[in-house]
Amino acid sequence: MSGPGASAVRPAEFRQAMGRWATGVSVVTAHDGSSDAGLTVNALLSVALEPPTVLVSLQRDVDTLPVLRRAGAFGVSFLAADQQELSERFARAVPAEEKFRGVRLHRGAGGTPFLDGALGGLDCRLVTAEPLYDHVLVVGEVVRLDPGREGAPLLFYRGRYGEADGPDRLRLPPRAP
Ligand SMILES: Cc1cc2nc3c(=O)[nH]c(=O)nc-3n(C[C@H](O)[C@H](O)[C@H](O)COP(=O)(O)O)c2cc1C
Repeated sequence: MSGPGASAVRPAEFRQAMGRWATGVSVVTAHDGSSDAGLTVNALLSVALEPPTVLVSLQRDVDTLPVLRRAGAFGVSFLAADQQELSERFARAVPAEEKFRGVRLHRGAGGTPFLDGALGGLDCRLVTAEPLYDHVLVVGEVVRLDPGREGAPLLFYRGRYGEADGPDRLRLPPRAP
């Protein structure tokens, strides 16, 4: 396997190219028994159905990572279109207490926080957190589904937020009866 450093593609170019890949937006959270932590994440992937498994790719130096490791668990809240403010808040480089101040939430069995008003969530047991280059690949087994509400998802595309509703935005096929 070849190591890093050989690519002719620069990080800024890569980021711009990946911006063409439209995603939803989630907030990944953890609780280590004394404190909460969380960050906005769009590098989220469903990797297996049996057992139900997800992967999130986190920058090595994010403050949420040590809390998540200590907790041995994490949560994922899928943001709704009207939760852009929460996405911006959890993407800020500020202490976790500031991120969570005034945020309405509920907790999973192990105390993992989930954001009220999200479209749903995943309560995960940490399976492994594997460093890879400048990121850590965090893999979790989904042990509980956090019920959410019906609504339009918050989308992220080319560095901007969007909604999947409305005539001049992305259109979704009508829901089956
Ligand atoms: C739309 C969006 C998606 C993001 N996706 C990720 C991601 O997948 N992984 C990551 O490590 N950071 C991601 N970030 C950046 C983090 O949310 C940001 O660095 C955050 O401040 C880290 O918080 P922490 O240090 O308190 O854990 C994203 C930011 C935005 C706005």
